[in-house]
Amino acid sequence: MTSKMTSEEIREAFLSYFESQGHLRMASGSLIPVGDPTLLLTNAGMVPFKAFFSGESEPPRKRLVSSQKSFRTPDIDEVGDTTHLTLFEMMGNFSFGDYFKEDAIKFALEFLDTRLGLPKEMFNIAVHDSDNEAVELWLQAGIPKEKIFRFGDEHNWWGPAGDEGPCGPNTELFYDFGDDRGCGKSDCGPNCEYEMNAQGEVCDRFVELWNLVFMQFYHNLDGTRTPLPAPGVDTGLGLERAVVILQGVSTIYETDLFQPMINKAQELTGKKWGSDRDTSYAIATIAEHGRSSTFLIADGVIPGNEGRGYVLRRVIRRAIRHGRKLGLDEPFLGELVKVTIDKMGGIFPELRNNQEFILNVIKLEEERFQQAFENGYSLLTDALVDTKTLSGEVMFRLWDTYGFPVEMTQEIAEEQGVAVDMDGFAKEMAAQRERGRASSLTGGDRAKIRVYEGLGVEATRFQGYEQVTGSSPVIGLITSDEAVDKVTEGQDIEIVLLDTPFYAEGGGQVGDAGEVSAPNGELTINDTADRMMCAMAHAIGNVT
Ligand code: SER
Repeated sequence: MTSKMTSEEIREAFLSYFESQGHLRMASGSLIPVGDPTLLLTNAGMVPFKAFFSGESEPPRKRLVSSQKSFRTPDIDEVGDTTHLTLFEMMGNFSFGDYFKEDAIKFALEFLDTRLGLPKEMFNIAVHDSDNEAVELWLQAGIPKEKIFRFGDEHNWWGPAGDEGPCGPNTELFYDFGDDRGCGKSDCGPNCEYEMNAQGEVCDRFVELWNLVFMQFYHNLDGTRTPLPAPGVDTGLGLERAVVILQGVSTIYETDLFQPMINKAQELTGKKWGSDRDTSYAIATIAEHGRSSTFLIADGVIPGNEGRGYVLRRVIRRAIRHGRKLGLDEPFLGELVKVTIDKMGGIFPELRNNQEFILNVIKLEEERFQQAFENGYSLLTDALVDTKTLSGEVMFRLWDTYGFPVEMTQEIAEEQGVAVDMDGFAKEMAAQRERGRASSLTGGDRAKIRVYEGLGVEATRFQGYEQVTGSSPVIGLITSDEAVDKVTEGQDIEIVLLDTPFYAEGGGQVGDAGEVSAPNGELTINDTADRMMCAMAHAIGNVT
């Protein structure tokens, strides 16, 4: 039973074990945190339950269990190696003022032993150095003293998720992969970060499998901590790590969770994961980013230049770049979307329900970037020749004109051993903002804004993810900064629509072109401007 459980069986074993211990099974919450402006994306299982810990609202039961989709951004540029992921599932059991340390420890050991076949002998334990109670409980549970390690806040204090929220000391179970995987040093143990080789790979004999957090405080925005009305338990067991251990493989990409995406990436590129380092890296990146962008879009994130939209854009564009490395120069991520939905749509119905929308968003973003990539990449390659540091000016041009996320430029430069001038880039960005502010003060723009305001439209609704044609009421026709009722043949005008499939890309990239037909005339759309999504048009015939 233990060696070959599937990922579905492992997830189900977790949820049903905790149900049998009185927990209510909850569906995964959205990756977009609800009512939590301090957090970009859901990054842990407890995020949807923050208000239950703080006492702001009542949980449906004092014991809950879930497998929560989670997204972490700090390591995006590391994805492709064998350990980092953006999207992962965190399985967790939660107590809101019900059981505390003793039962949390008891449940963890019992579940691992009886349901996964991983007895306590396979684990080492980390505890917060102030938590004598937890040490005592682990000893009582049969963990020998020499396998219990104490650490400070850096390792064993958890939270808050976001700028405020519940937090507390934690204790972690580290799975021991055994001697042959470790550094062999006599003091090797949990959190061993001994550098094993010149590539900077560190000892990974002990892998953190499960984190038990004892939520005792609320961390306030001003930095102070208030004791929680009722202390509770929040735990996080990484599904992907459990799957690696139970399927007896070394990396997540060899598990059943990732095989369909890896196979698809191999089929598309004709290259094999595992053949050499660069190929494996690119295949894994395509597989991982294809999966995680599917989940982001299913929850309503769309590519953009800020916040969550920028995270998604980075992930998609990074996947495209790795696809290019392996010879993919046509849109391909839709294929990864489909296998992700096949594999995971049963557990996460939002994937199936939004399949068409996800495919459209991915396709549009890919088409836009595929074109710009070619030119941007050759500019960058030229700029990297014979230089030690890439200038902020080139990085800015790549961002502004070719849509290269700055982190991606940095990653490419560093691959070639070239440093980047981030300060110079920041200065260019600041100068652009300044230019934006200055130009918005010109009389012409003020007049235009007045016209837009007079039209009473706040923002045109973009429909291009669902369709490339559409119909809409005309909100306004503008000539020479005046709203007019009618334009005549041959005039160059602006048209403002309520709904539009015309995409207005900012940052130097051109907006969409196309045609608009009205009952009594036609317009050729030459360009679509960012603000208000208005379109620059040339009238063919009179339009009213
Ligand atoms: N919130 C804790 C973590 O993210 C436990 O779930 O590790």
